Amino acid sequence: MPPNPTPHPQPPQGPGLEVKAIAVRYGALEAVREVSFTVAPGRIVALVGANGAGKSTTLKALIGLLPLARGSLWWQGESIERQPAAERVARGLALSPEGRRLFPRMSVLDNLLTGAHTVRNAASRQRTLEQVYALFPRVAERRAQLAGSLSGGEQQMVAIGRAMMAQPQVLMLDEPSLGLAPKVMAEIAAAIQRINQDAKLAVLLVEQNARLALRLAHEAHVFEQGQIIRSGSGAELLADPFVQTAYLGV
Ligand SMILES: Nc1ncnc2c1ncn2[C@@H]1O[C@H](COP(=O)(O)OP(=O)(O)O)[C@@H](O)[C@H]1O
Ligand SMILES: [Mg+2]
Repeated sequence: MPPNPTPHPQPPQGPGLEVKAIAVRYGALEAVREVSFTVAPGRIVALVGANGAGKSTTLKALIGLLPLARGSLWWQGESIERQPAAERVARGLALSPEGRRLFPRMSVLDNLLTGAHTVRNAASRQRTLEQVYALFPRVAERRAQLAGSLSGGEQQMVAIGRAMMAQPQVLMLDEPSLGLAPKVMAEIAAAIQRINQDAKLAVLLVEQNARLALRLAHEAHVFEQGQIIRSGSGAELLADPFVQTAYLGV
C-alpha cells in the first residue's frame, strides 16, 4: 500500500476563513464530521439543511464557543482553532446567534453597543453605528426603545446590527429568517445583500429556508447529519433535482 502522503492538514490556500475537516462533539454525539469549506473575502456562503443537521454547531465552533474534536480553522492564513472567541471577534469574525439573543430590557442602542466592546476607538464605533442605522432605518427610529418591545423582524435587524458593531470581515448569521413573515424575510434578505455589496463583508449564512439562502449565496453547502453532502453555487443547487425534492418542495 502506498504511504499516506498528507498526514497533516493542507496549508491555507489564501485569505479568508478556511474550515478544514472539522469534527465537533457533544459528549458521545459527533454532531459535525469532516466538514470543509472556505469563506473567501466578499462572498456570501450559505449552509443549508434540516433542523439538527449541524449548522449551528458549525458556526459555534468557528466563533470559538465549542472546541474542535478534529480538523483545523484558518483565518487570513493563521491557525485560530486555539484562540478564544473574544480573540476571533477582535480579529474579524462575528456571529449573530440563532434566536437573536437580545437583552429585552435594554434599549436598542445599548444592545447594539454590546457588540462593539472589541472596538476601542469611539469615533470608529460611531461610524459603524451610523452604518447600521443607514442599513436599518427602523432600528434608528427605535434606538431608544426597549429591544423587547420590537417586532420579530426589527429584533432580527438589531441582532444583525449588533454583530456588525464588532466591525467584522466575516459576518455569520444563524437563521436570520426564522419565524418571520415572508415580507419581513425579504427585507432581511435585501439587507444581507447590501451588507455584502456595500459594506463589502463576507457573509456566512445558515438557513433552514434553503430557497432564500440559495438565492442569496455565491456558494452553498447542504448539511445532512453533520456532514456536507452537496456543494455548489446557489444557482446550481437551486437547479439540482435532489436539492429541489429534499429542500425546495418542488
Ligand atoms: N448543547 C447540545 N448538547 C447536546 N447535543 C446538542 C446540543 N446542541 C445541538 N445538539 C445536537 O447536535 C446536532 C446538531 O444540532 P445543531 O447544530 O443545532 O443543528 P442545526 O443548527 O443544523 O439545526 C443535533 O443532533 C442536536 O440535537
Ligand atoms: Mg441551528
